Amino acid sequence: MCGIVGYVGYRQAAEVLMEGLKRLEYRGYDSAGIALVDNGRLSLTKRQGELDVLRGVMPRSEARTGIGHTRWATCGRPSDRNAHPFMSCDGKLAIVHNGIIENYAALRGRLESNGHRFTSETDTEVIVHLLEDHYKGDLRQALADSIKEIEGTYAIAAIRDGGQEIAAARKENPMVIGLGVKENFLASDVTALLSYTNKVLYIMDGETLSITPSEVKVFNAEGVPVEREPAVVTWSAEDAQKGGFEHFMLKEIFEGPNAMHNTLLGALDMIENGEVLPRIDFRSVKLVACGSSFHAAMVGKYVMEEFASLPTTLELASEYRYSPGARETPLVILITQSGETADTLAAAREARRRGCRTLAVTNVVGSTITREVDEVLYTKAGPEIGVAATKTFLAQMLAMYLLAIRIGYAKGNLSHDSMRSALSSLRQSSNMVQSVLNRMHEIEEASKMIDSAEHCFFIGRNINYPTMLEGALKLKEISYIHAEGFAAGELKHGPLALLDSTTPVIATAIKGDPTYEKMLANVSEVAARDSPVLGIGLEGDTELARLCERVIYVPKVKPVYSPIPVTVALQILAYHVAKRRNCSIDKPKNLAKSVTVE
Ligand code: G6P
Repeated sequence: MCGIVGYVGYRQAAEVLMEGLKRLEYRGYDSAGIALVDNGRLSLTKRQGELDVLRGVMPRSEARTGIGHTRWATCGRPSDRNAHPFMSCDGKLAIVHNGIIENYAALRGRLESNGHRFTSETDTEVIVHLLEDHYKGDLRQALADSIKEIEGTYAIAAIRDGGQEIAAARKENPMVIGLGVKENFLASDVTALLSYTNKVLYIMDGETLSITPSEVKVFNAEGVPVEREPAVVTWSAEDAQKGGFEHFMLKEIFEGPNAMHNTLLGALDMIENGEVLPRIDFRSVKLVACGSSFHAAMVGKYVMEEFASLPTTLELASEYRYSPGARETPLVILITQSGETADTLAAAREARRRGCRTLAVTNVVGSTITREVDEVLYTKAGPEIGVAATKTFLAQMLAMYLLAIRIGYAKGNLSHDSMRSALSSLRQSSNMVQSVLNRMHEIEEASKMIDSAEHCFFIGRNINYPTMLEGALKLKEISYIHAEGFAAGELKHGPLALLDSTTPVIATAIKGDPTYEKMLANVSEVAARDSPVLGIGLEGDTELARLCERVIYVPKVKPVYSPIPVTVALQILAYHVAKRRNCSIDKPKNLAKSVTVE
């Protein structure tokens, strides 16, 4: 799980590559490196640590060709030696890689016995030695021959001394070419290219390519040239930058209303014409995802049942793909903001193999999942750089509501008027997000209840059970506090044993929800164990306030839509706790935004 950039053109390559790597740091940030062709000769600079460490040791260079890499270690611990790029023994070839080479041990044994000297503990290094063996004057051909020996997944970029060319190959890891005038770019993600171009060519699995300043050639797995129309990306470079906020996460939380608004607008066709729905079988549905997307799926289950009476099951993508699949559903919906999560991609393939129709909900146009499924529904949250999902999660929840409402209407569960009124409630709840944002300072104050805790519980019921799981996930991933989410009714079956005055509990109780009274009882149980309770409830709820040490109010909303404002309050809470603890908010340790390994 790493980020790759490449540049060939007339600019200073090192600058372009550093700029691109900065945008890709969310993909990995335990080490970084750059290979340049400087005066015809290859040079490597690589360091363990964040990009700034590399920046500090980068020599001045006039090179116009180079490749760069930001790493998130999978094979071989983070270190200078294990950082990419890697160079061939003769010093004439260099490569960077994202993915996993499964047969690297066998390949390494063979290459070593043929005299290749290895300098790292990585699987990646075998690629550069294979390339050295296969190179006979055509870099792309040598790469195409090398990958024939590789089992696993990869995005690889290679350069050679004396050349102004990058060769690359892709299998199950993202790769995109940025098209310029007298220059071309390569990257794992368009966000790395947006400062230079918005004209891109997406590379498909099995393809290899060669780019020079004036030429782009793409070949399929059989070596036949491929012609493809470029796509134009509508995200601006500014969309992918911090815009005055201290962290991407905060900026992205503040972009929540926009993300919802755009997702709503983008889905209007689907609402009006039933697009993406015509071939959908409404007997039952399974929702499959990982991480935060799985929590959006959990909200999805409630709303599919609420609005559409559609029997809905849930599975984690990493489990679904290995499950016996005895009770298959006609429709599987895969939710993945990046569209690149390895487990979700594998689940999509498995669902199709089992004969299910597949629909992906994703935020990234042209991402791999869009080519693996029958239908796509895009969320329109724009680029998200912070590793912790915020606005994309909101947009995913919204997509779940939209689908449920539309299916409910198509099935006859909702009349035209009820569908309209549900949509207007959704529109209002996006305005409510703004009201929660306006309370940022109150929430910041409330974060003091948690910032020195070692453990923290999040409890909720019904549709706010997943919201609280997501709240706990946000807190643990960016503040490193041990945070657990529970369905409040489950406390008495175990977790209560852990409560005392040192463990704060965040409890959401939404007046009007059928479980509201039960939630109040659960809050009392918790308070009786001396745990400080931070309540989250609807404006004016004095009953809840009486039981809690402190309350964060969200605007009055119908309970079924409450996960939207509650989620934003929890995102802001996690952000401020992490900030008070001086944590690396946008790039939490050991995590990456896009998990392209199983
Ligand atoms: C990683 C990210 C999470 C994300 C999960 C699934 O773990 O850190 O924020 O929820 O992957 O990602 P996806 O792109 O499939 O939604």
